[in-house]
Amino acid sequence: MRIDVLTIFPEFFQVLDVSLLGKARQAALVDTHVHDLRDWTHDVHGTVDDAPFGGGAGMVMKADVWGAALDDVLQPGAHLVIPSPAGTRFTQGQAAELATESQLVFACGRYEGIDARVAQHYAKAGFSVSEVSLGDYVLNGGEVAAFAMIEAITRLIPGFMGNAQSIVEESHSDGLLEYPSYTRPASWRGLDVPEVLLSGHHAKIAQWRHDQQLARTRERRPDLLG
Ligand code: ADE
Repeated sequence: MRIDVLTIFPEFFQVLDVSLLGKARQAALVDTHVHDLRDWTHDVHGTVDDAPFGGGAGMVMKADVWGAALDDVLQPGAHLVIPSPAGTRFTQGQAAELATESQLVFACGRYEGIDARVAQHYAKAGFSVSEVSLGDYVLNGGEVAAFAMIEAITRLIPGFMGNAQSIVEESHSDGLLEYPSYTRPASWRGLDVPEVLLSGHHAKIAQWRHDQQLARTRERRPDLLG
């Protein structure tokens, strides 16, 4: 998979090299390219934003600058991802879908976001375009959100994780939160590991874990149970 990131803060993505994603890059499973949006500006100030039509606070990122950049970076069949607090909620299911794409392009907006015609134009031009929110809170820009999504997506690329079973059993993969985990010592500061986990009885352990998943989800995330 090829991943391109367009941002006015390319330095931010140096962390891609040191995270787990670094291993995937070395294994040639992902090929990441980070671009400075200002490389597509034409004035001496490298202007990327302007005042919003209709008035209001903040600045809007310019469609002409984004258009020039995306025309160069998007390859046929690419999926354009625009992180935005006004997007649809990013989920594990969407991460799994995006993990099968050949090219993902993350357009990281700042300020009040990117001129709305940019998403419109590339959808009309036949690209898949997703405006996606990490959660119900506002970040300063799309960078942190893009980074989180890249980590969630790339770890689902076949061959990326050392232990494929740990992906199958983790939170959200089956619509429930993960069960609690314990390791040695069996007793710590007066707290004992649940007896059943020491029993060696696999069916009973599986049943206990499933019950814990349901209880946790009911308590912490009842919205997931519908
Ligand atoms: N940009 C600013 N806030 C965001 C959020 N919550 N999710 C995705 N992108 C964002």
